[in-house]
Amino acid sequence: MTQSNQSHYIQFEQTNKSEEDSSQFHFKSDVLTGLSQKRKSIPCKYLYDQRGSQLFDEICRTPEYYPTRTEIALLKEHAEEIASLMGLGAHLIEFGSGSSIKVRILLDAATKLESYIPVDISRHHLMQAASNIAKDYPKLKVWPITTDFTQPFQLPNNARDGCNVGFFPGSTIGNFTSDEAKAFLVNSAKIVQPGGSMIIGVDLKKDHKILNAAYNDKKGVTSSFSLNLLRRINREIGGNFDAKRFRHEALYNAKMGRMEIFLVSLDQQSVRVNGHTFNFKSGERIHTENSHKYEIGEFQNIARASGFSPLKVWVDHKSLFSIHYLRA
Ligand code: TRP
Repeated sequence: MTQSNQSHYIQFEQTNKSEEDSSQFHFKSDVLTGLSQKRKSIPCKYLYDQRGSQLFDEICRTPEYYPTRTEIALLKEHAEEIASLMGLGAHLIEFGSGSSIKVRILLDAATKLESYIPVDISRHHLMQAASNIAKDYPKLKVWPITTDFTQPFQLPNNARDGCNVGFFPGSTIGNFTSDEAKAFLVNSAKIVQPGGSMIIGVDLKKDHKILNAAYNDKKGVTSSFSLNLLRRINREIGGNFDAKRFRHEALYNAKMGRMEIFLVSLDQQSVRVNGHTFNFKSGERIHTENSHKYEIGEFQNIARASGFSPLKVWVDHKSLFSIHYLRA
């Protein structure tokens, strides 16, 4: 899988020319399938095209969206302690490689790391992130792996000695159902292997007003981010959504313990996508994301049921966000 053409310590994989085609194919078939269901839905990963990723970065800067800045502050505050738990000669495996600000905090603190292994399904983003890190940390071995991190994958040979530490920030685990979160943890326990660890950012349950504000910022950035999905469908797979005839909706569902995010049709309408017609009643919704929130103990129980011992948890003084250190 790997080649020896190195710049700094980066190990490049062989390229797969059909990758773009195949991700385009998945987008089309997932959208058509999702819109054909009785309860329409589209997987949240499609929110993040280039424009979507820009808008998400902008969401992170809105005053209402506390998760990103709280997690970054926690990482900075506890970086030394985290680095000492990771130990000497560790291999840091990042699940998803979108958040280089966060991993850089750990890389700056853990000066005795052996390697950094970013794992992402999007080769383009992965390679960009990996080469920037390799450039800025010339002594670090950087070993990107293009794969779906919810599935089993092989670490490089030297990363199999109980020093593997996974990093999964951003409360991305909250986008999974609790069964999926468990499956993710079971899989990651196998990847880091017994004695290895996971560092996971988890958004906490809290006052619903804070949650609802975080997903409905006043400036409307979140709304643009949501609606961009319709524009992406128009652009990439031939749709005629009129984004002005939909609105963003984000509501906390207390029973399920999660934010639920939708695009709501403002009136009765039909939309064509890739030659297919989809009818919307007035008020009918397309479900685009769930973002589960966990109490500390609740998340630790899921971790225990998935083969981890909770070693340590860091929480900010307003109890908004948590970072868990778990040992496999
Ligand atoms: N996964 C992020 C979260 O749950 C993404 C996100 C923030 C999001 N705001 C959003 C997704 C609005 C859809 C709509 O916090």
